[in-house]
Amino acid sequence: MRALMADTVDALREQLVRRAAPALARRHSGEKLRRGNDSLEGGGDRAGEASVADVATSRADGAEPGHLHTSAVRVSQDADPTFLDIRERLFVRGDAAARTAWGRELMELTELGYGRQADHHLEQVLGLPEYRYHETRGADRPVAPFEGLSAELAGRPGVHAPEPSRMVYLSPVAKALNLTPDDVVYDIGSGLGKAGLFFGGFTPAKRVVGLEIEPAYAMFADRRARELGLSHVSFANRDALEADISDGTAFYFYNPFGSTPDRDAVGMLADRFAELGSAKDIQIAVKGKPLQTRLDETGVFSAETVLEDPAVWKVFRSHQDPS
Ligand SMILES: C[S@@+](CC[C@H](N)C(=O)[O-])C[C@H]1O[C@@H](n2cnc3c(N)ncnc32)[C@H](O)[C@@H]1O
Repeated sequence: MRALMADTVDALREQLVRRAAPALARRHSGEKLRRGNDSLEGGGDRAGEASVADVATSRADGAEPGHLHTSAVRVSQDADPTFLDIRERLFVRGDAAARTAWGRELMELTELGYGRQADHHLEQVLGLPEYRYHETRGADRPVAPFEGLSAELAGRPGVHAPEPSRMVYLSPVAKALNLTPDDVVYDIGSGLGKAGLFFGGFTPAKRVVGLEIEPAYAMFADRRARELGLSHVSFANRDALEADISDGTAFYFYNPFGSTPDRDAVGMLADRFAELGSAKDIQIAVKGKPLQTRLDETGVFSAETVLEDPAVWKVFRSHQDPS
């Protein structure tokens, strides 16, 4: 049986490189890549360019169909069998190195302008629902933008749907954070778990914790982590402002909340980060001006802009004075 890790990595690399090849060829021939699929203006949808059939033709050899649907990888979301195959290889038969390699390829696809396609692959492999309304502005989005999910999971009146991070965000943020096996990552407002599972599955972080105020979202994400066998990843149903995050070294903040006259949530979080950042080196990846401004005002952090478009993401870092 050919189940060697090298085969797995090679096969997965081949799949992704095949997909990236036309773009690479265009890049080498000097043709400017169209990045419309990742801009708010949108228009291009490259997700359709490399079809599932295309993926299927480059399917890794040596996979035994009987291995595809083990209980360990069965999920509520029915993925294409090819993606179940990749899930099996990466999360059941594969190991962290194979996952890291696949994650790197996803990031490369994203950088080439195929972010939407990378999202599709990631969501299928992780067993997450697909969110198709990233480029639809607030009021125009359906209340329940995930197809086929119960109201508790898909969003309902009064409870925002948990818009997942896009690869176009995760890729530059992961690069900038450059997580190591010493890192403990907190996703503040973890939704259905996409960012947390990405950091847990595709970086060497020691531990990843998602904090989510909606019980059904946290339960769904935690079940995904268990079913994928990611024992170092967990999702808790907690108000992030009340949870103990003091063991964290890296934090991910994708617009979970704003401040209201009743509760200055952003200010409270900025104060906690400032306290933590004064005691040890931490990194905080932030989308959204309110928290970025408040962190700037603490005077504790240096800031690096890691993405300008389609949204501004900054990574804030505290550095202890060695003296
Ligand atoms: C935009 S979603 C982000 C999902 C996830 N971080 C990702 O990137 O894929 C924000 C999530 O924050 C949650 N949230 C809002 N306020 C919160 C709080 N005080 N504590 C924990 N989670 C909260 C929302 O329920 C929502 O699921």
